[in-house]
Amino acid sequence: MSGPENSEIRGHQNEFSQMLLNLVGNAKDALEEHKPEQPEIAIETACDGDHAIITVRDNAGGVPPEIAEKIFDPYFTTKEKGTGIGLYMTKTILEKHMRGSIAFRNGERGAEFTVTLPLDNTSEDNGVGSWP
Ligand SMILES: Nc1ncnc2c1ncn2[C@@H]1O[C@H](COP(=O)(O)OP(=O)(O)OP(=O)(O)O)[C@@H](O)[C@H]1O
Ligand SMILES: [Mg+2]
Repeated sequence: MSGPENSEIRGHQNEFSQMLLNLVGNAKDALEEHKPEQPEIAIETACDGDHAIITVRDNAGGVPPEIAEKIFDPYFTTKEKGTGIGLYMTKTILEKHMRGSIAFRNGERGAEFTVTLPLDNTSEDNGVGSWP
């Protein structure tokens, strides 16, 4: 994981970790299915103006183009034991609870999910967890 160290975003900590776990879990599933020689999951953070940008990227080959537009739909899954709720939940939490968004693209070597969240520029602590 790499990126600037001292930026803060405000939100519910469990929801934030749930969201990251969903993305990393999906990357892990894809790597286990496609078995590239050197499996890799990269998590990068960056700041752009007043937004934090978190990218989760793997090298498992990406999402077939014909299903790419469905991956955020509820109950859409290509896995035998999948619920298809992971990305739908992640998107819902981000948009409805965290004023954020998520975008997907197929990168050179695999799937790339980009999460954008407003940076917290208030200094008082309102008791809601922040990240990191
Ligand atoms: N990193 C990825 N690489 C390739 N395909 C992916 C990746 N992430 C998601 N997908 C595709 O998007 C679909 C939907 O993902 P989502 O997390 O919503 O559900 P799921 O992983 O199938 O089920 P669950 O999250 O309940 O285990 C997956 O079934 C898979 O086909
Ligand atoms: Mg999933």
